[in-house]
Amino acid sequence: MRVLGIETSCDETAAAVVEDGCRVLSDVVRSQIEIHQPFGGPVPEIASRSHLEAIQPVIEAALNNAQMTLSDVDAIAVTNRPGLIGALLVGVAAAKALALATGKPIVGVDHVAAHIYASWMDRGSPPPTPFISLVVSGGHTSIFRLDEPFDPREIGSTADDAAGEAFDKVAAVLELGYPGGPIIDREAKDGDPKRFPFKPPLMARDSLDFSFSGIKTAVLYTVRGTGRREPVPLSTQNVKDLAASFQEAAVEALVGATFRAVERSDARAVVIGGGCAANSRLRQLFLEEAERRGIELQLPTLSRCTDNAVMIAGLGYHQLLQHGADDLSLDARPGR
Ligand code: KG4
Ligand code: ZN
Repeated sequence: MRVLGIETSCDETAAAVVEDGCRVLSDVVRSQIEIHQPFGGPVPEIASRSHLEAIQPVIEAALNNAQMTLSDVDAIAVTNRPGLIGALLVGVAAAKALALATGKPIVGVDHVAAHIYASWMDRGSPPPTPFISLVVSGGHTSIFRLDEPFDPREIGSTADDAAGEAFDKVAAVLELGYPGGPIIDREAKDGDPKRFPFKPPLMARDSLDFSFSGIKTAVLYTVRGTGRREPVPLSTQNVKDLAASFQEAAVEALVGATFRAVERSDARAVVIGGGCAANSRLRQLFLEEAERRGIELQLPTLSRCTDNAVMIAGLGYHQLLQHGADDLSLDARPGR
């Protein structure tokens, strides 16, 4: 079964054709990063308008790259939740128009569940259940327990900022540009992670929740100074040390809570998804901790961490098999 996937939940317009849930026939992502760069983050209204301009050429490119026409596609899968509502509506309207015109089945896909699927789709078969998944991106930071491979149940989440949002805001404080995650990752490689003692907040001992706004504010006050402390100037080495110290605190919080979830649920595997799963320090710490505990770990390939339509087409295939198609009353939703 060949599924055309469409993704427009934030600031990437993406389309892909995937066969039987895992064989990638095409994968097109048009990023809006340059358009949002002057504003330091995605501007919802601008995102919607850019999706509108890009959606048709991106879908055409995905079909062309797969050497197919619309008539060769068996079904259409589209991200319909969660995300920026105006952005989601563009993808959902496009998918519904194609479904109406061709009579092909349509299925709405949960973007967060698709990030979880992206972390293990290349291995072919699901990890052993129950497994724990951390989804960590610009819009979401949550821990899920999966007793069934396609049925995530949220058991922990951020109380304030998403981790990627904190990376982006700290990068803005350090005057590094947008999106901040990859730049902080790069700067931190030559920095001292112990120089600034940023600490993840002490959540209740057994909590599976996160908070990133405190670490972000600590970086801000370190740079600006307070009544009692001199500001730390943004010299080349200071920026590297600040980036490394922030990244260490953020990643420690993510690794700590994820393995607390593993202990609590006797999980047999851990999978990580979302844009921040590309972070090199996060990948290293997860690999070390999983090896120390002898637990299976699945990290997505780098191109599957950030938003893409391959994961939407892939999960859409499984949803069609399990639950059948949606009808044309399918609508976009900002929440899950
Ligand atoms: O999954 P994604 O493309 O979009 C959302 O669903 O939010 O994630 C984008 C986020 C951005 O905040 C970006 O800064 C972060 O992922 N990111 C990273 C890295 N690469 C991307 N964060 C930390 N380290 C990275 N290497
Ligand atoms: Zn995402």
